[in-house]
Amino acid sequence: MGGMKRILAINGSPRGRASNTQRLVNAFFEGAAQAGAACETLFATELDIHDCVGCFSCWNKTPGVCVFKDDMPGVLEKMLDLDLLVWATPLYHFGMTARLKRIMERTLPLAKPWIVRDGEHYHHPIRYPGRMAPHFLISNCGFPERHHFGALVEEFRLLVGKRSEAFLGSILCASGELLKVPELASRTAWYLDAVRTAGREMAERRAISDETARTLERPLIDIQSFVVMANATWDVPGEVPPTPEEALGGEPLTPETAAMLRMLRMREATDSAKGK
Ligand SMILES: Cc1cc2nc3c(=O)[nH]c(=O)nc-3n(C[C@H](O)[C@H](O)[C@H](O)COP(=O)(O)O)c2cc1C
Repeated sequence: MGGMKRILAINGSPRGRASNTQRLVNAFFEGAAQAGAACETLFATELDIHDCVGCFSCWNKTPGVCVFKDDMPGVLEKMLDLDLLVWATPLYHFGMTARLKRIMERTLPLAKPWIVRDGEHYHHPIRYPGRMAPHFLISNCGFPERHHFGALVEEFRLLVGKRSEAFLGSILCASGELLKVPELASRTAWYLDAVRTAGREMAERRAISDETARTLERPLIDIQSFVVMANATWDVPGEVPPTPEEALGGEPLTPETAAMLRMLRMREATDSAKGK
């Protein structure tokens, strides 16, 4: 089987082009382009897409055609004859964003109403066999623990993990807000390098190597340091943030976190001496 030639990503972040999600997509695409793939991103923020209203016209009255004449027919057209369809979303309440879900719901015209057995389970048959690409998921989330992605990944397995439309894997970046912090760029560059490698591997051989997959599962920075740093970035009028000790629930400090705390406290002391 040859390399991938055409890859499309649909980015569901409300932050669009400036999103952490897009930082990951861009790195993935840089790698895929090195392997010769032509890559494109569609931004949900730039598309006019109505909610699916469940009329099922696209299944019975006008098979394959939705009643809404918005941007979605063009998106459906672009989804056909790809080598890979990348769903890209920040984690919102343990799932994809509403914008991405809206687009996903409007893919109903790509299926037919019948219920037929496909492997172990019953599914709706796809309307254009041989023209549907395998799927891939790119996500990032605010919390530092990867278990936050559990429901999202399960949803994708159920949605697209059929024999006809394989789910080829995912890149799931916890503590993703760190990606946009310029001061931390040198500490997060290794992760984006691994995403680039994943993009190249995927385009070359339709799979991410075990070594790259393991690298992508490593935390961007250690969880304690992340929690202390994240809490210190919020400046909320009238509210007292938890102390680092409270936030860490009594867990003993790692040497890295202790060093970071010393630095933060020195900065607080300097700021208060300056009357900030
Ligand atoms: C409404 C909302 C819900 C969120 N829900 C979660 C969540 O369930 N778990 C999590 O770890 N982060 C959650 N986050 C944090 C985002 O995933 C995080 O800010 C992410 O870096 C945003 O990525 P983006 O720049 O690609 O939009 C949520 C953020 C918002 C605004």
